[in-house]
Amino acid sequence: MKKIVVLISGNGSNLQAIIDNCNSGNINAEIACVISNKEDVYGIERAKTSKIKTKIINEDAFQSRAHFDEGLFNLLLDINADLIVLAGFMKILDERTANYFFGKIINIHPSLLPKYPGLNTHKKVIENKEKYHGVSVHYVSSQLDAGPLIAQGQIKVNKDENTENLKERIHKVEHIIYPEVIKLICDNKIYLNLGKTVNLYTNDTKGFMHNSYEI
Ligand code: GRF
Repeated sequence: MKKIVVLISGNGSNLQAIIDNCNSGNINAEIACVISNKEDVYGIERAKTSKIKTKIINEDAFQSRAHFDEGLFNLLLDINADLIVLAGFMKILDERTANYFFGKIINIHPSLLPKYPGLNTHKKVIENKEKYHGVSVHYVSSQLDAGPLIAQGQIKVNKDENTENLKERIHKVEHIIYPEVIKLICDNKIYLNLGKTVNLYTNDTKGFMHNSYEI
């Protein structure tokens, strides 16, 4: 059984999907710890309800951002997880952490990367009258939202759709695709090869998984 650690900053609906999939046995892993950079967030409640160890690492408690980065790095070293899952963690990992754990950290981002890295993706997609929107799961590198892609889930943007509705549908896709990718990684079916490209055991000619959803 693999050991995973999940990093959050907020609501933790993706965390909940991962917990549920671990509990049902779909993901063959144990969540060793949930780390949050904020104390009073619902994701921490979710972890506690499921009796998962939690750890708060708040930048304000450190002398500087560099000390915070050092603290987080050491915490991750201590936990020694097989997989580090970023699920709405609103801090950019420093270069040392991203490089040291390269191939072991994954992130979910609400856009079809490389389109729309950064914040407010749903709003930008609507403003730009995009036909499609989606989510991307990728390995984390030291560049923001730019590591090797593992999977994308795409939906059609509906006519006159508002940001809230689009965001809600995107979350539904996230809750399917993220547990699925984590399952495949924990089953050693997805891995990053030494050439720094993603290899899928199930179909390594494809590069990464791309699905469309009717949600
Ligand atoms: C998700 O939209 C995820 O793609 C982004 O942050 C959000 C986290 O949502 N990185 P939640 O806390 O899992 O509900």
